[in-house]
Amino acid sequence: MAVQRTFSIIKPDATKRNLTGQIVAKFEEAGLRVVASKRIHLTKAQAGQFYAVHAERPFYDELCEFMASAPIVAQVLEGEDAIAKNREVMGATNPADAAPGTIRAEFAESVGENSVHGSDAPETAAEEIAFFFSGLELVG
Ligand code: RTP
Ligand code: MG
Repeated sequence: MAVQRTFSIIKPDATKRNLTGQIVAKFEEAGLRVVASKRIHLTKAQAGQFYAVHAERPFYDELCEFMASAPIVAQVLEGEDAIAKNREVMGATNPADAAPGTIRAEFAESVGENSVHGSDAPETAAEEIAFFFSGLELVG
């Protein structure tokens, strides 16, 4: 597997509890390099645009409210097999199902407020990186 880039968000529940550094440490320990990073506070409309794929899901409104409730940290992570590796380090969506040692097992509060987002495929990684970062911000 070649070197890949993936997109990551440290979600409001985690930034509020001052967990940014501990979460970044998990990525770095797994061999993922932070090649771009910014802390921003999304509007609900921006959160809705980012999560448009979930617009028909029952939790969509709650998800958008949550993502706009406090700052997030948007990041690009790079490494061997980065998309799958990031998902592995994150753990299952529901922290009750997340493997021990994963970010969600250690830090997530619930299935909704689950501390991190990570792209699920090369196409979504490229789209999500472009949603948050311009070429000039992606120097590696
Ligand atoms: P993400 O996209 O944030 O990396 O998470 P994921 O792939 O593990 O989960 P996904 O199915 O894509 O869901 C996106 C986010 O929506 C919230 N969610 N809430 N209340 C619920 O039942 C529910 N289900 C999902 C979570 O914040 C989830 O990460
Ligand atoms: Mg997802």
